[in-house]
Formats: sequence, C-alpha cells, structure tokens
Amino acid sequence: MSTMESLIGLVNRIQRACTVLGDHGGGDSSFSSLWEALPSVAVVGGQSSGKSSVLESFVGRDFLPRGSGIVTRRPLVLQLHKTEDGSQEYAEFLHLPKRQFSDFALVRKEIQDETDRVTGKSKMISPVPIHLSIYSPNVVNLTLIDLPGLTKVAVEGQPESIVKDIEDMVRTYVEKPNCIILAISPANQDIATSDAMKLAKEVDPNGDRTFGVLTKLDLMDKGTNALEVLEGRSYRLQRPWVGIVNRSQADINRNVDMMAARHKEREYFATSPDYSHLVSRMGSEYLAKMLSQHLESVIRARIPSIISLINKNIDELEAELDRLGRPVGVDAGAQLYTILELCRAFDKIFKEHLD
Ligand code: GDP
Ligand code: NA
Ligand code: MG
Repeated sequence: MSTMESLIGLVNRIQRACTVLGDHGGGDSSFSSLWEALPSVAVVGGQSSGKSSVLESFVGRDFLPRGSGIVTRRPLVLQLHKTEDGSQEYAEFLHLPKRQFSDFALVRKEIQDETDRVTGKSKMISPVPIHLSIYSPNVVNLTLIDLPGLTKVAVEGQPESIVKDIEDMVRTYVEKPNCIILAISPANQDIATSDAMKLAKEVDPNGDRTFGVLTKLDLMDKGTNALEVLEGRSYRLQRPWVGIVNRSQADINRNVDMMAARHKEREYFATSPDYSHLVSRMGSEYLAKMLSQHLESVIRARIPSIISLINKNIDELEAELDRLGRPVGVDAGAQLYTILELCRAFDKIFKEHLD
C-alpha cells in the first residue's frame, strides 16, 4: 500500500475515534477541533438530485436506502478502502464492529434500522453520524459524508421546521474551511435554482473547495445540452464540472447492475456528439478517482497543522490529568487516557508521513 493511501486510512481512524468518543464536530471536547481540521468530502444536493446514485456508482453496489421523502436522516460517513484484486467485498459498521456484511441488501437494511434507532421512526433528522466502511477491489480510497437532501417543503408527517433543520445540519459540515463540497445538481433543472449551488455559493463564494457535479444529462430535453454548465460559463468554479449519467428509475426497477451501469455511462460520453470532447473528465469513475487524489493531496498539505493540533490536545489532556492528580479514578481518567494514547499514536504516524 502506498503512503498516500494510508493517509486517508489514518484520517478515517481519527474520525471513527471522534465518533466513538461522542464527538462529531459540534461538541466542545478536546477532539472537536481535530475533527474540524481533518479534510472531508461532503455530498450536498436537493432531494432526488442523484446523490445516492453517485455514491452507489462509486462503490459499484446497491446499498443505500431508497424511497420518496427524506430517506437520509443521519449523516453517513462512508469510508471506501481499496483492497487487492480478487479479494472478497464486505462492509462493516462502526456500531457493529464484530459483524462483516457481504450481502449489501442487509447493509441497506442496517442503515435504515440504525437511522430509526436514533430518530425513533419519527422521520426526524439527527446529526449523529453512521459510519460505514466498505472494503472492495472495485473502489478507490475515499471518504465521503452523505447528508440529508435539501428540500423546500416538508412532506407528510414531518414538521415544517425540518426544511430549515436539514439546511442547518448540512451547513455545519460545508461551512468548515476543510470541507470539500461535492455539490450535486440535476441537469434537467435550471442550475440557477440548484439547492446545492445556492448553499455552496454561500459558504464558498470563490468556488475554491466546491466540485460541481451535474447528473441526469440523459434526461435533458432533446436538442438542448449542458455545455454552458460543464464548460464553466453558467457557474464558475475553480475545478472543472463533472457530468454524470446514473441509472434511471426504470434501470433500477429492472435491476440493471452497477457494473453494467458504469459501462453504459462510459458509452454515453464516448458516443455523445455534445460531450465527446470532454470524455476524459466525465463520468462517475473519473469523479471518484479525481476526488481520491484531491483528498490525499489536501490531507498531505495539512499534515503540519494536524500535528500541531494533536500536540495541543496532548498538552491539554496532560494538564487535565495532572489537575485530577494521578493516578485518577477509572471512570474519570479512563477516557482521557484513551484519548491521550490515541493522540500520541496519531502524532507518531503523521510524523512518519512528514519525511
Ligand atoms: P437522491 O435523492 O439525491 O439520493 O437521488 P437518487 O440517487 O435516489 O435518485 C433519484 C431518482 O433519480 C432515482 O429514480 C434515480 O434512478 C434517478 N436518477 C438519478 N440520477 C440519474 C441520471 O443521471 N439519469 C437518470 N435517467 N435518472 C437518474
Ligand atoms: Na438541487
Ligand atoms: Mg438519497
């Protein structure tokens, strides 16, 4: 495994530790500043814009809950780990560490059940993330946070406040300067009305950390195309836009598998009179690879500041333990010691990446 690959894995481990310790960015424990300093990729878009479809094509598997209404009601931290060719694919949840899932229909069910466990089937949302790791030869090393879809109206059984609650939750992720925004908009709607671009523009006005993704190119009216957007004239970003063709609802109903869908998407761009000149930077496979490389390089660039934050945590923890007086009681001190040990381990590994 290359050094670059293990850097994403290392950040994954810190993020899992943060969640186990009850901190996912909103809290004020010693770990919260660390979570915020770690680069992450957040998936943002309106309901039905194609977020789940994009994530499933990154994985090459059907595994996300589907349906109408607000399906994603807790953030899903999706950690993709590339394994050796020919190895068995499996998934693992942080909250079920002893169980390996090889049936992805059961992964979908567990995401639903675990969402309901915290939100109590109330259709409410919760900021507590679910962590899912997928080990597969068919993925690139990448971590993505799937967030509830932005919506303009509450659906039946949900309070009006949910519209703003979702937007606020998504904003707490995307407003962090270390968050890479994967902003998903459907090509069959005016880009000026895109919920994703509206929020991205608000938190990242120069488009420095926003990756624009345009789905549903195949659903545009005949005789029209998305070149104004894809070539950066409608909405200028620092990074080139990526166009996507996911499975249609009819494809899903017919159980078109993901590998066939990837193939169909490649064909679409290769043979399209409108987009064939952009073929080398279109499609979900390209998007996943590009994001993986970008995430690695951003993490690499942040290593010195991450190390100094970890050391600030170590200093604070040592001072706190001194204040409690050593040896401290099992309850009071155990968690602090755990965090301290973790910080020391992470500090050591990050320093190895420096040279
Ligand atoms: P999400 O709500 O943002 O997660 O959106 P989904 O990924 O669940 O997609 C919503 C619907 O749009 C599903 O029926 C998908 O099959 C369909 N869809 C998504 N992307 C595309 C696309 O690129 N082309 C076509 N034809 N349908 C798409
Ligand atoms: Na949208
Ligand atoms: Mg979805």
